[in-house]
Amino acid sequence: MRKFGIIGLGNVGRTVAYTLVTKGIADSLVLIDKDPKKSRAEQLDLQDAQARLNTTTQVSIQDYDALKDVEILYISAGDISISTNGGDRFDEFKFTAAVVKEIAPKIVASGFHGFIIDIMNPCDAVTSYLQKLTGFSKQRVFGTGTFLDTARMQRVVGEKLHVNPRSVEGYVLGEHGNTQFVAWSSVRVQGQAIQALPAASNFDFDQLADEAKQGAWEVASGKGFTSDAIATCAVSLGQAVLADAKLVCPVSGYSDQFETYVGLPAIVGKNGIESVVDLPLSEEEQQKFAASAKMIHDSVAKLA
Ligand code: 2OP
Repeated sequence: MRKFGIIGLGNVGRTVAYTLVTKGIADSLVLIDKDPKKSRAEQLDLQDAQARLNTTTQVSIQDYDALKDVEILYISAGDISISTNGGDRFDEFKFTAAVVKEIAPKIVASGFHGFIIDIMNPCDAVTSYLQKLTGFSKQRVFGTGTFLDTARMQRVVGEKLHVNPRSVEGYVLGEHGNTQFVAWSSVRVQGQAIQALPAASNFDFDQLADEAKQGAWEVASGKGFTSDAIATCAVSLGQAVLADAKLVCPVSGYSDQFETYVGLPAIVGKNGIESVVDLPLSEEEQQKFAASAKMIHDSVAKLA
């Protein structure tokens, strides 16, 4: 029985739910939202969809006790409209930290012993706070982090080089936010390092990185929120855990070196974050990484 839970049914949470149901990924799904009418509406909508699907998902609502045997729990109770104003996800922290304070004890009391995947922003800081307040192991609590920013970088580079984004490998690291950076030394296209690729010799890498970073706000300002890409990232991380995929991808994971959650490459499998991958970064990239991690660390420390 593949059992999932989602706390927060805004545009992201409901897209995660839709994906889990329509792709037949979840056998059972628990939906929780501060507005019970909203949960009921999403439950009905997903149940109605199932008459036209070949798969079945039991959808239940508003029941923290039902989290007891949930394997993957998504936290998506943020509000992007707070961040959109300034383009800084940290604007949301006051709001989302209060949400964490409210839900963490309820999750713990339910007897939940699965994996938490945080989507809420500022992702790295919220994930740190969730881990702290639940007391769950750092392997079991992680966030979508720069998995999405990396996808945006793959899109931007793919467009520039006229290749499929999936043929672009590499990492955006650091904060899922303004201090993130593309580790260009890790980016490879069709097996070749991008920095040595003749077709990329005249690229303005800073500008490309910025384009990827601004992707979030281009989407948010056009449709009022972002949803499809982040939900897809979140679902694939959950699937990686359940399938013990040992998928190497950038997530918001705990760094012993920086004593904080931060976007880093990790192996995701049946134990959650199985290990952190030690990427050979250039000196400049190491500095950017340290600065980004410090910013997250200090912001979470202020809250404590
Ligand atoms: C995103 O990057 C806003 O964090 C959200 O799509």
